[in-house]
Amino acid sequence: MKAVILVGGEGTRLRPLTVDTPKPMLPLVNVPFIEYVIRLLKKHGVDEVILSAGYLPTAFDDHLGNGSDLGVKIVYVTEEKPLGTGGAVKNVAAHLDDTFIVFNGDILTDLNITQLVEYHRAKKAVATLTLTSVDDPTAYGLVPIDAAGNVQEFLEKPSWDEVTTDLINAGTYVLEPSILDLIPSGENHSFERGVFPLLVERKQPIVGFPSSAYWLDIGTPSKYLQAHRDILDGQLASDFSGSEIKRNVWAGEGTKVAESAVVFGPCVMGRNCVVEADAMVFGHTTLADDCVIGRGARLEGCVLASGVHIGEGAVVRNSVIAAGCVIGNKVHVDEEAIIGVNSVIDEDNLLKKGIRIWPDTKMAKNTIRF
Ligand code: GTP
Repeated sequence: MKAVILVGGEGTRLRPLTVDTPKPMLPLVNVPFIEYVIRLLKKHGVDEVILSAGYLPTAFDDHLGNGSDLGVKIVYVTEEKPLGTGGAVKNVAAHLDDTFIVFNGDILTDLNITQLVEYHRAKKAVATLTLTSVDDPTAYGLVPIDAAGNVQEFLEKPSWDEVTTDLINAGTYVLEPSILDLIPSGENHSFERGVFPLLVERKQPIVGFPSSAYWLDIGTPSKYLQAHRDILDGQLASDFSGSEIKRNVWAGEGTKVAESAVVFGPCVMGRNCVVEADAMVFGHTTLADDCVIGRGARLEGCVLASGVHIGEGAVVRNSVIAAGCVIGNKVHVDEEAIIGVNSVIDEDNLLKKGIRIWPDTKMAKNTIRF
């Protein structure tokens, strides 16, 4: 079976992490996010993946090649201009001749795709949409269904008095190639606002598949951090690389933790990291390769990409530090701050409140304290 993964978006909500890395290539516990999606598809019998790219397209090919490492064939199609979700799939129509799967490339899930496809076939649907329930339905597009599972309408970001269901479109579909005839070629077209409502209007068999599987759209800093926490907590089956040096603490080859330092799980550290004396790494932290945590520094719930250097006595909590950053002594980084690649933050800065620091920033001593 074939699957199309949509990976063409700019991922603006995750800037500056997405300035030089497309969102699906961002690491999740040291593994590019797209690998989680491809492994899930492969587990459920998908043998060919069509990557519909647009923004920074070469990043995918550079890492995944022909897909043989993951046991699938990967075909790359790059859009010259963004075509939207439906337009992107129409653009790869030449590769699709049978029932196929579409996956938004920013959804972390352990959805049972085998069951989803069986449901689609049993319902003889032309389109089956996975639905997931959320606490605040007003922030999403709602998809009410009737008792037989037929989609009744699409409600975009409704007010509370319009809310009749908490089921939202989870961004994973099983589709028949026939629906591609309803999408114009070469034009920007959204499934959610275009062909799906059209199928409802024409009384075509479009059904919803309510799922209680783990589901998270990783597209904002807080969700990106949550995805790390959930993986580290074991909510999704994952194999961490390295060896388990104590319960729930994983360290790659060459990583050294000083005797007076403490690392609490769950925590994953890559290769050749150094945790210096008296440093404390609290749970839900991920370090990629070659990170140095300075003497007496404290980390909690954060994500450090490769080659990050944390200075003495610095504190980093619930934040993402991109590759090659140098965080000076006694700097505090907190509250979902995002520090772009190769930035240097000199001593005594206090970075909080969701601050986003652009790549290659050089911040002098004592510049920000709020
Ligand atoms: P934001 O800019 O932060 O909203 O992120 P995004 O650009 O990724 O948009 P969004 O989260 O709405 O996109 C959902 C999924 O569809 C993501 O996996 C995107 O990569 C993908 N996507 C969105 N628009 C396009 C497009 O025009 N073409 C292709 N090929 N994929 C798209």
